[in-house]
Amino acid sequence: METLKDKTAVVTGAASGIGLAMVRRFARAGAKLVISDIDDTKLKRALDEVTGLGASAMAMTVDVADESQNRALFESAIEKFGQVNVVCLNAGVQGSIGRSWSLSKDDYEWALGIVLGGVIHGVRTFVPHLVDHGDGHVVITASVSGHVSSPFNAPYTIAKHGAVTLAETLFHELQMERSTVGVTCLCPGSVKTNIANAAAALPPGSAGSTKGKLGNQILEMSQQVVEDGLDPAVVGEQVHDAILDGRFWLFTDESWDGPIAARATEIAGRAQPRFRAPNFE
Ligand SMILES: NC(=O)c1ccc[n+]([C@@H]2O[C@H](COP(=O)([O-])OP(=O)(O)OC[C@H]3O[C@@H](n4cnc5c(N)ncnc54)[C@H](O)[C@@H]3O)[C@@H](O)[C@H]2O)c1
Repeated sequence: METLKDKTAVVTGAASGIGLAMVRRFARAGAKLVISDIDDTKLKRALDEVTGLGASAMAMTVDVADESQNRALFESAIEKFGQVNVVCLNAGVQGSIGRSWSLSKDDYEWALGIVLGGVIHGVRTFVPHLVDHGDGHVVITASVSGHVSSPFNAPYTIAKHGAVTLAETLFHELQMERSTVGVTCLCPGSVKTNIANAAAALPPGSAGSTKGKLGNQILEMSQQVVEDGLDPAVVGEQVHDAILDGRFWLFTDESWDGPIAARATEIAGRAQPRFRAPNFE
């Protein structure tokens, strides 16, 4: 795709953080926008902002975990703009934090439903349309957590591994079909967004909340890591450029390259797994 000007971009989780940064950047590029989020209030604010930037835009409240709401989003986008070109499957939550065996069935189902289910529903809903007209690009927001197995966040980590493999599978299939539709697998490291604060705001005991003292400590640590993260505007710029370049892998920084490479070597050498954080020696 040479430009986003006059192309229609659908973004989920567009009311905050990385999704909001994408729609701001796409608006400046002259794209038509379909923005969606589960948070109605923030979504209205985002719509005001992008229309203020001169974008032709519509907003729709959508829970990505619900397949029928994804379909309704697609139908509304087609009704409004006639075609969709860019689809950013980005909505996500941090998921429950605690030992994998202490988390409930609801903890797993909730995070997997949003973080992986949202991507699966989005691919099934939008990709046939993109393949039909050929002028399309799919951005799947995965994570470095889709490449390493960090302890105490199993639902999220499982979902992100699934998102990475779905993005790669989709890429291979489109290549084999000689489709002109592109795919980007966005793997952020730490980005300064609302994700950890949203987790902290959940009622104790609910799906998605932390479990026990250990869970609270880990959540505090991840709040700090996110707080020290990249400005989301940088990621919005990177996503814009990756779409134009047709680039598959998009890592927002290099801090997890060492642990990811070490894990691959460990697997090929049949060595016992060792958890490594960024800047390990
Ligand atoms: N911030 C980071 O450091 C980081 C790192 C790796 C990956 N990511 C991924 O980036 C994506 C965006 O997260 P963010 O960091 O911008 O967080 P954020 O909390 O600022 O934004 C996420 C948005 O998704 C929305 N959302 C949550 N559940 C939803 C649902 N069921 N349906 C529709 N919308 C829903 C939220 O309302 C929010 O507006 C997520 O997939 C996240 O996992 C973030």
